[in-house]
Amino acid sequence: MATIRLGDVAPNFTAQTTEGEINFHDWLGESWGILFSHPADYTPVCTTELGTVANYAEEFQKRNVKAVALSVDGLESHHGWIKDINETQKTTVNFPIIADEDHKVAELYDMIHPNADSKLTVRSVFVIDPDKKVKLMITYPASTGRNFDELLRVIDSLQLTAYHKVATPANWKSGEDCVISPAVTNEQIPELFPKGHTEIKPYLRMTPQPNLN
Ligand code: BEZ
Repeated sequence: MATIRLGDVAPNFTAQTTEGEINFHDWLGESWGILFSHPADYTPVCTTELGTVANYAEEFQKRNVKAVALSVDGLESHHGWIKDINETQKTTVNFPIIADEDHKVAELYDMIHPNADSKLTVRSVFVIDPDKKVKLMITYPASTGRNFDELLRVIDSLQLTAYHKVATPANWKSGEDCVISPAVTNEQIPELFPKGHTEIKPYLRMTPQPNLN
């Protein structure tokens, strides 16, 4: 297992999923991707997480993001669990769940943290861009369900900052002012940011979000 760092190419793999075998890179195609692991099937927090992702399908689609989940249980277990998720979370699971019984993908992505649990995956999140580069990694313990509103917020920031010379400040949400990248000189600002800017300090320059009308 090699350490994965931001900016690395996301390791490719083939895996059995609830929607058939996938080659990860081929399956991602031109989309952004979110790969997230779950400790185990038929567990309460995981059930709410997968239901939330299914219920957020439109939000992921709007952002051109494909979601894929993983747990180290098998396909039969996944299919049975999906019925429970659909029933209890009032949804239809509409993304693949990887059946990683041999831990191949979990090990490739360092999703098993032995001092937390020797067999089950922690709650890992990887966001991958259309060049297959890892843009975000977050790790939560089994006891804490993820905040998928936060993940959408981060994806908004990743997509904005991939195409514009801005960064997003603390607690930023789409629609709010952005920070002009330190690499941008004051001379470049009028052309790059025609909506204007405010200089709070020479190193802290704010501008309206550039990709909004
Ligand atoms: C859960 O998803 O509810 C869960 C899984 C493993 C440990 C604790 C909670």
